[in-house]
Amino acid sequence: MWSDVQQRQTQAEVPAMDSSNPVAAPSHKDPAMRDFLKIEQLSKAYQKDKPVFADVSFGLDKGEFVCIIGHSGCGKTTILNVLAGLDTATSGYVYMDGREVSGPSLERGVVFQSHALMPWLSVRKNIAFAVESRWPDWSPAEVQEQVEKYVSMVGLSHAIDKKPSQLSGGMKQRVGIARAFAIQPKMLLLDEPFGALDALTRGTIQDELMTIVRQTQQTVFMITHDVDEAILLADRILLMSNGAEGADGYKPGGIAEVVTNTLPRERTRAGLHHLDGYYDLRNHIVDFLVSRAVAH
Ligand SMILES: Nc1ncnc2c1ncn2[C@@H]1O[C@H](COP(=O)(O)OP(=O)(O)OP(=O)(O)O)[C@@H](O)[C@H]1O
Ligand SMILES: [Mg+2]
Repeated sequence: MWSDVQQRQTQAEVPAMDSSNPVAAPSHKDPAMRDFLKIEQLSKAYQKDKPVFADVSFGLDKGEFVCIIGHSGCGKTTILNVLAGLDTATSGYVYMDGREVSGPSLERGVVFQSHALMPWLSVRKNIAFAVESRWPDWSPAEVQEQVEKYVSMVGLSHAIDKKPSQLSGGMKQRVGIARAFAIQPKMLLLDEPFGALDALTRGTIQDELMTIVRQTQQTVFMITHDVDEAILLADRILLMSNGAEGADGYKPGGIAEVVTNTLPRERTRAGLHHLDGYYDLRNHIVDFLVSRAVAH
């Protein structure tokens, strides 16, 4: 029903973008919106003949939110780092907006699994540094306005002049999220961005993220271990298997299945479990993680 292997579901099923409705799905009819990010035949081997993953191909349309789920060590962060241009694949290609990704760029905002803030700079200066790099011509007032807007978005206005060492792990993670959003990148790459947050903050920031992403038609690739988070946020969910030794020798990990989320796009956290199809979708993903997530 909502699942297919390596192929995307018929695009005709996805409603066209309606500018009057901020939660409408992105239009897949416009060819320029298709495969905004394109990944072809990616593999990564730290050990010769035993790639962590191989034959990884998928695309993200402009404005699409795609989550990837898989067990620890299957290679999710490695894929995200290759998409960010921070790591190189052993083979394969990544294209964004028609150009090959060959290094880091301010066109892609990254939130790392462990927050990567400059410890000697305050929250304000950490984010201002990124904003100034993105828009070198902006006046100090314009930079400050942008910084304050995004710090407020993650609820940290009271801590804007603190250093990372004075913040909790969750607060540091929120600074990382604000920094990624503040440069208004063409693409957001999020590596378990809410992993260190308490449930309440996590929910609030998920809602904020969803609102901003829908309104700005941001394209997002996000790693999560949380099935409900993926169902809430993602248009499609990539299920990734771990590489493993089997009877026929070693088999690398890869994208085992692509699940299309057919729940209404204007879904909310509170209402998710009341939606028709929610439990089927959830059970399908959990079953994958429990019994099919190891390559065989
Ligand atoms: N620099 C490296 N040298 C050797 N092996 C590495 C290196 N970096 C990662 N690996 C291995 O590659 C595999 C994939 O790592 P990666 O960090 O991408 O996993 P992940 O899916 O993000 O896991 P997690 O969910 O725990 O974050 C792991 O088995 C890891 O041990
Ligand atoms: Mg990881």
